[in-house]
Amino acid sequence: MTEKIKTGVEELDVILDGGLPRGHAVLLAGSCGTGKTILSQEFLFAGAKEYDEVGIYISLSESREKMISNLEGFDFYDTKMMEQNKIKIVDITQDARLMNLEPLTVNGVMNMISSIIRDSEAKRVVIDSVTAICNSLGNEKNIRDFLFELGLQLEYLDCTTLFISEVPPMEFTYSVFGVEEFIADGVILLREMEDKTGNLIRTLQVIKMRGVNHSRARNAMEITQAGIQLKPMFEL
Ligand SMILES: Nc1ncnc2c1ncn2[C@@H]1O[C@H](COP(=O)(O)OP(=O)(O)OP(=O)(O)O)[C@@H](O)[C@H]1O
Ligand SMILES: [Mg+2]
Repeated sequence: MTEKIKTGVEELDVILDGGLPRGHAVLLAGSCGTGKTILSQEFLFAGAKEYDEVGIYISLSESREKMISNLEGFDFYDTKMMEQNKIKIVDITQDARLMNLEPLTVNGVMNMISSIIRDSEAKRVVIDSVTAICNSLGNEKNIRDFLFELGLQLEYLDCTTLFISEVPPMEFTYSVFGVEEFIADGVILLREMEDKTGNLIRTLQVIKMRGVNHSRARNAMEITQAGIQLKPMFEL
């Protein structure tokens, strides 16, 4: 049986019957501000602290400096991990520009991502976002080829990966191009909903996780200084 690894969010490990299967590539889908970056960073810090695994965050949407200043207030954030290069945040938009790779090609992006991962010897990887990469790849065939190839490369490199997918708010969709969720080994969906008093509450739901007997319930999700916390919806 595949080893399960801790996600950094205790309640999510319970939902996943012990954690994420090592080597899985999981689509983390949500609209803006739903907590995708915070959840992903918690996942990387858990890997670095509990498993001594290097984690890498490949960002196409937010600069390294801004991301760090947004994370500094959280208990899980640890400057030491950054200093020791256990957690790396790479702004790939700048790299892409420097390397004159625009417009992006499947091979160009693949080579860039896999060389970043190989050089860092990362075991946990976050790509923020596959939507941004897919946007610059153009047609569906390129997108399929890219995601399929990327999945294989990451498996070969023995990485457990979160692919961030940016979806429109208040919609029950996992991806923009409709192919991402089929290629991923799992789908975790972050959404928001209004409660009776009109407050927006965050929710997390595991839609699919290959090889895992997981709960498919929608959970209430809170972001606090202690990180992400999940509760059953009926406790609200
Ligand atoms: N210290 C904190 N305590 C509680 N909530 C916070 C804290 N810091 C940020 N948040 C909440 O988290 C949200 C941002 O989370 P995050 O950056 O992970 O979202 P995201 O899904 O990555 O967004 P985007 O699509 O814009 O990248 C903020 O809008 C805010 O509501
Ligand atoms: Mg984000």
